Amino acid sequence: MSNLSLNCDNLKSFVTEQEVISLQEQVSLCHDRLEGGTGKGSDYLGWLRLPSRFSDAISAEIETTASSIRDCCEVFIIVGIGGSYLGARAGISYLNSSFSNQFGRQGGPEIYFSGQNISSDYHADLFDLISGRDICLNVISKSGTTTEPAIAFRLLKELVEKKYGVDGARGRIVVTTDSSRGALKSLADDLDYKTFVIPDDVGGRYSVLTPVGLFPMAVAGINIKELMEGARQGEKLYSTRSLDQNDAYYYAATRQLLYQKGKTTEILATFQPAFHYLAQWWKQLAGESEGKELKGIFPASVEFTCDLHSMGQWIQEGNRNIFETFLTLETSRRQLKIPAFQNDADGLNYLAGETLDTVNEKAWLGTADAHEGGVPNMTLKIKDRSPTSLGQLIYFFERAVAMTGYLNGVNPFDQPGVEFYKKNMFKLLGKPGF
Ligand code: PA5
Repeated sequence: MSNLSLNCDNLKSFVTEQEVISLQEQVSLCHDRLEGGTGKGSDYLGWLRLPSRFSDAISAEIETTASSIRDCCEVFIIVGIGGSYLGARAGISYLNSSFSNQFGRQGGPEIYFSGQNISSDYHADLFDLISGRDICLNVISKSGTTTEPAIAFRLLKELVEKKYGVDGARGRIVVTTDSSRGALKSLADDLDYKTFVIPDDVGGRYSVLTPVGLFPMAVAGINIKELMEGARQGEKLYSTRSLDQNDAYYYAATRQLLYQKGKTTEILATFQPAFHYLAQWWKQLAGESEGKELKGIFPASVEFTCDLHSMGQWIQEGNRNIFETFLTLETSRRQLKIPAFQNDADGLNYLAGETLDTVNEKAWLGTADAHEGGVPNMTLKIKDRSPTSLGQLIYFFERAVAMTGYLNGVNPFDQPGVEFYKKNMFKLLGKPGF
């Protein structure tokens, strides 16, 4: 059963159902390339079957290590960038309380992220915060050579070794990296760190359903079996070729049509702060997969209703090169009702007794309606904030982005453009060989 539903009613004046369905032949071709491993980037299709190949043995290994880490630290730091960072952050923010770091020990360790920037102040502030606390680290890097996490890891490793000694640090540092290559792998082998492997055929931004995302989520107390069960359901739901039975492909085909009609920016609009990092994860997935060869939709995101008071004006009346995908939540975990005021000083008594969900829903409907004339919009509704629903959603987006990339004729699994800044930076830093 699907925990997601896609509604394209507000697209009708821009893209008709008939137009979408007319892409079936192209979609089938791309589907066969994906399934048969005959398309571009076919060495990186391992993500397609991660859910159905998830085993009790992998699950037990992740959960056992996570439980020992939870027992021995107050602060857990995840060191990584890009695909080695955003999936875990998205999952933890989506599933845990907005304020879980403030809950104290019974909620598990406080969780912080490092190595996703090179900011001196950010890292110095982090070190102030964790000073005197019991710390564990998970450093995640597939290549094992990415500069940002490598610098952060140097700093944190030194800190942990000073505090616990080299032997004590061993039980507090978990490495997630390639099975055989890279500096991080060699270091982990030399120092005998607990290591999780990122499969060779899974690229960074498609790796959230490997230990890259699953181990940090398990430390955060998330039920990874349920998450993977949801992803397995997603794999079943979104692996069929037929556009009228596969919403992930329907969404992909719709995006492609809108793009061809000049709608070159997609705004993922959410109404829940818990979705913030999910939107960041989606932006990386879509942006790095599709933006190449001078082609691709620019993925942007906004968080409503907050951003209706900042970006709402632009969306309503700015350049008409955008389309919107509303990502909405069907039911919140808890319902809060608006209280009545005796004198109705703020004029809100007409809402007394209504839930915040009701008001938030009307805000979404009102916004979708207001934007409809100039901004094509569709809505992807997710049933709840459960691991199962999140697992389905992750698989949905991965399939959709891979399909859009193939429809647009690019390799959705490489990122050659990312190397340019690195080369310049290395040259400026005087790295040997640059
Ligand atoms: O999707 C990708 O491949 C990238 O975003 C990488 O995840 C990111 O550059 C980090 O790379 P690594 O895991 O090798 O440190």
